[in-house]
Amino acid sequence: MTDAEFLVPPEDELLLIPGPTPVPRALRLAAARPLINHRGPKFTSMYRQIEAGLRPLFGTENGTILIFPASGTGVMESAIVNLFSPGDRVVVGVMGEFGHRFAEIARAFGLQVEELAVPWGTAITPELLRSYLASHDPASIAGVILTQNETSTGVTLDLATLGPQVKEFGLLLVVDAVSAFGGIPMQMDAWGVDVVVTASQKALMCPPGLGLVAVSQSAWAAVEKAKLPRYYWDFRAARKFGERGETPYTPAVSLWFALKEALALINATGLDATYASHRRRAAMVRAGLRALGLELLVKDERIASPTVTAVLVPAGVDGSKVLARLRDEKKVVAAGGQGQLKGKIWRFAHMGAIDEASLLRALNALEEILREEGYTTVPTGTAAKAAQEAAATAD
Ligand SMILES: Cc1ncc(COP(=O)(O)O)c(C=O)c1O
Repeated sequence: MTDAEFLVPPEDELLLIPGPTPVPRALRLAAARPLINHRGPKFTSMYRQIEAGLRPLFGTENGTILIFPASGTGVMESAIVNLFSPGDRVVVGVMGEFGHRFAEIARAFGLQVEELAVPWGTAITPELLRSYLASHDPASIAGVILTQNETSTGVTLDLATLGPQVKEFGLLLVVDAVSAFGGIPMQMDAWGVDVVVTASQKALMCPPGLGLVAVSQSAWAAVEKAKLPRYYWDFRAARKFGERGETPYTPAVSLWFALKEALALINATGLDATYASHRRRAAMVRAGLRALGLELLVKDERIASPTVTAVLVPAGVDGSKVLARLRDEKKVVAAGGQGQLKGKIWRFAHMGAIDEASLLRALNALEEILREEGYTTVPTGTAAKAAQEAAATAD
């Protein structure tokens, strides 16, 4: 996958919100193909190819991969209704808006939620999780729910350490990988993750509308035992149809075409190279923003997200005005903050098909506007130069 295949032409609007992300041309063309019968051999063959293509991204040999027409929130709900029973106690890691959302969904279904909350911009550490789990009776906990990449703050969890820790206590682990999947490694089998939920519109580069789930072999016992009502989301029905390469209800066929193309692009690049490219692009954005004198929300580089970066709106600068000027004058669409960070940060995504040239374009645009707003006097090209230097030295 070359930059040229990704490139957002300079005259086009550059979507740097953390999802949906720019959809490469090959995927858009794929989604425009004539439809096929979803109960016929062509669909079944595509089902098998997509399933095989997703396996390395989930990092699972034998987990069951299920695809629903849904947004990320839909598949978050699917995990709750398939794994738990009313009154079950779950521990939800809350590092920002999306951890908070998972807690709310669990509460909406009558679960008892214990929030393991940390200040926004920081991560749930292995020490914190261990001390929580060690001081509670594991038999009283039905599961642990974590957000791999907290999109509202740009923090990524160390699941390679946290996952095995949850397993040590014999607990079920559910992970929201919506803004991580395809940009940050996931190793379900190796890390002991039972259920991963994600969506099509972020690092997978597709339009929104597909909710993807992987269920480990050992999690099926919990699915059978769970008593919450479910119909559309029933993993058992999805698995049964999946065995013959179909879905229980009408799939979003056009989006499956796009997903198949996305997996081909990722495969052509290689998974390790894809993850390295995300780390490199993140390093570019962080360096560029720092060169402008801006303060990153996430201070600890080790937990800084490879897919999205949040930066504080500096004192004396009107954050909404800068976002509006970026959009209207430079066609660069970035995001503001959510929840308690509303009005306090800007967020720039660098996942999926957001190429390096586009990131330089965004940094140049931000630099120019911040200069005009009287915030900075750095020489033209300072942010882009720092970003290019960071790209050259990234791993
Ligand atoms: C980490 C995370 N979880 C869940 C969601 C919800 O996804 P959706 O908006 O597709 O429902 C998002 C969306 O940004 C997200 O970033």
